[in-house]
Amino acid sequence: MRLITPPGVYAPQGDTELLLDTLAREDVGPGDKVLDMCTGTGVLAIAAARRGAETTAVDISGAAVTTARLNARVHGCRVRVVRGDLTRPVAGERFDLVTVNPPYVPADAPDVPARGPERAWDAGRDGRLLLDRICRAAPSVLAPEGVLLLVQSSLSGVDASIEALRKSGLRARVAARSDQPFGPVMASRAGWFEARGLVPPGVRHEELVVIRAVREVSAERFGEATRGGEPAERGTGADGPAPGTDTAAQTEEAA
Ligand SMILES: C[S@@+](CC[C@H](N)C(=O)[O-])C[C@H]1O[C@@H](n2cnc3c(N)ncnc32)[C@H](O)[C@@H]1O
Repeated sequence: MRLITPPGVYAPQGDTELLLDTLAREDVGPGDKVLDMCTGTGVLAIAAARRGAETTAVDISGAAVTTARLNARVHGCRVRVVRGDLTRPVAGERFDLVTVNPPYVPADAPDVPARGPERAWDAGRDGRLLLDRICRAAPSVLAPEGVLLLVQSSLSGVDASIEALRKSGLRARVAARSDQPFGPVMASRAGWFEARGLVPPGVRHEELVVIRAVREVSAERFGEATRGGEPAERGTGADGPAPGTDTAAQTEEAA
């Protein structure tokens, strides 16, 4: 897909590709509502919108929001692009599919950067500052039987994400994996990763993983949720119901 990728906006990389491939295997189309969090150029949102889904994209970066709007227009897609923090701009809304490629790279800083290109990848010392929030908040934006597709590195705790998603009441499993050589950012931190035991000495590659998590409707609540109909498993896999909060909003909306 040809995209405008100005400096400061995350240009699609291996993690984007893996998530796009996984999205392509999902049963998404007209009538479905899709949310792409951390949208960057909007590439995943555009892929969903092209299949006819009613699509919303969120990013905290003003440059990314402008870029995603532009890219959607270039591709003739209707995407609602909203500026804000993760699920906050869409609090109260529910989506059939949520995609997210968040910042997940371990960094020698306790907090996420407030600005700059690093905001697209740095996520605290264990790389989990955004991942943990997403795992807690995901159920609050998923419709019954809604699916979350989350991509991350093996360096930032795949088991921790699966465990956190299950704690949130979702059924979670690994849906896709891909081994990738370190890019420039990862390579520049290789020594620090080694010192922290995140990679064995000399290893300069990581595994990227897409986690698929499903908000299943429990047997008791099912009748209420579907008015007595049969459960319809979406897409290719499945996995439970849940709470989750991430409220209040800072939005700057446009079409
Ligand atoms: C790794 S990039 C992914 C971009 C795009 N989805 C892709 O796959 O190519 C992460 C994106 O998350 C955005 N971001 C960082 N923190 C955020 C937050 N708290 N809420 C929403 N977006 C955030 C960054 O601005 C960046 O565009």
